[in-house]
Amino acid sequence: MLKQGKLIVVGAGPGDPELITLKAIKAIESADVLLYDALVNDELLKYAPNAECIFVGKRKGCYTYQQEQINDLFVQRAHEGKVVVRLKGGDPFVFGRGSEEMEHAANFGIETLLVPGLSSSLSVPAMQNIPVTKRGSSESFWVITGTTKEHKLSDDIRLAAKSNATVVILMGMSKLSQIVQLFKNEGKSKTAIAIVQNGTRADEKIGLGTIESIETEVKRKELTNPAIIIIGEVVKHRAKILEIQRTYKQPELELVR
Ligand SMILES: C[S@@+](CC[C@H](N)C(=O)[O-])C[C@H]1O[C@@H](n2cnc3c(N)ncnc32)[C@H](O)[C@@H]1O
Repeated sequence: MLKQGKLIVVGAGPGDPELITLKAIKAIESADVLLYDALVNDELLKYAPNAECIFVGKRKGCYTYQQEQINDLFVQRAHEGKVVVRLKGGDPFVFGRGSEEMEHAANFGIETLLVPGLSSSLSVPAMQNIPVTKRGSSESFWVITGTTKEHKLSDDIRLAAKSNATVVILMGMSKLSQIVQLFKNEGKSKTAIAIVQNGTRADEKIGLGTIESIETEVKRKELTNPAIIIIGEVVKHRAKILEIQRTYKQPELELVR
């Protein structure tokens, strides 16, 4: 009897190849076929030395797979009895189409599993010493896409701008001026904001400022996609945490970076 294939949708974390779960690594090791996206660190491919690795993301100079082609690919390979790992940046269920792909596979009678990942929405601020909640500063956080399916600014950003929450925006760089305007409309010109590009990677860049100053900072630092926008008073805690780290740093105890 033909071996049953399956689809494992796996979160690869934000970019630093050490920010991945053990379960994810085990899944990659089990892969016959690995379909990976642009935000996945290529270093992770070393865990699947014998797998057929296919890049299906969007990168300059590379063929761009349409979603339907990706779907066809994993259905076909799984029907051949192969274990297909669909490796996605961050967490597959956070603006990652993970559930759509699992539903598609299930429609073809294919077993599917999910391995969550560290979403950039939490891990990128954290690795920049920005706590998304802090007692007395922020009681909640919103994670919002800047750009909807219809390429419009999400209306949730207007609602979030009215709240006291920390606002984390993914895919928002092309709409930065509109986002800034929404916060100004709420009287929040002086609210702190950070933009982190390529978070947790070697080429990470950060821009800091206030709602009214951030666009100048973005131009000065030439910040672009992929980037995450963090808005709220918690951004100010970064300086304090960095100061604490510098004060108590013991070189022999350094674990990360
Ligand atoms: C399609 S969404 C995927 C999000 C992913 N599933 C997650 O949980 O992080 C892609 C967007 O996530 C954000 N992003 C992902 N990784 C990032 C990183 N390492 N640094 C900054 N932003 C990142 C950017 O806003 C990027 O445009």
